[in-house]
Amino acid sequence: MVIAIDGPAGSGKSTVARTVAERLGLAHLDTGAMYRSVAFAAVARNVDTTDLDAVAALARTLTIEVAAGGVFVDGVDATDAIRTEAITMAVTAVASNPAVREVMVAKQRAWIEQNDGGVLEGRDIGTVVCPDAAVKVYLIADAEVRAQRRAAEQNEAVAVDMVRRDQADSQRAVSPLMRADDAAEIDTTHLSIEEVVDVVLGLVPA
Ligand code: DC
Repeated sequence: MVIAIDGPAGSGKSTVARTVAERLGLAHLDTGAMYRSVAFAAVARNVDTTDLDAVAALARTLTIEVAAGGVFVDGVDATDAIRTEAITMAVTAVASNPAVREVMVAKQRAWIEQNDGGVLEGRDIGTVVCPDAAVKVYLIADAEVRAQRRAAEQNEAVAVDMVRRDQADSQRAVSPLMRADDAAEIDTTHLSIEEVVDVVLGLVPA
């Protein structure tokens, strides 16, 4: 069973996805961490993140492990580094690179096969990665509340940057952030994590 959780930054995706996975005994994949891993590798190796071919070539060679224990890029622990402001800035160009997306989507589908399903969070899970997901949710929240949530997170770039990133994610040509037609939209503005988790669990077929 695949549960797809999409939505903008600060909508509550990560905590909700992790909790739902725990409750159901399913594996969890933060696909944003994968795009961040590519940005991390590009910056570390002085590859221009706007050079489409160079970043795509790099993405094809990388081994990316995203698990509860941390994020490892070619064996290097990048758990904290991928959350820095520099990487948050660099990831936009990486995530709008069609060839990089192709590589990441293939990795994500392979992960689904290996784990026999799971909870995936991102921007294009319900629309592109797994259109057949058993449960699709699209989390939203008022911009002000999302900015507050982000600012409260450690190591997170200034909240203002969130608006830039959301716009870039929503307006890019390939796999933009959008709700799948058959996704349940949940406004998390005034809900606690537990309340959102309950709504999502309520959508899971028996
Ligand atoms: O969720 P996040 O902030 O860690 O995501 C990092 C970046 O990757 C963000 O700019 C959106 C992008 N992303 C994407 O394009 N597709 C996904 N499935 C997940 C993240």
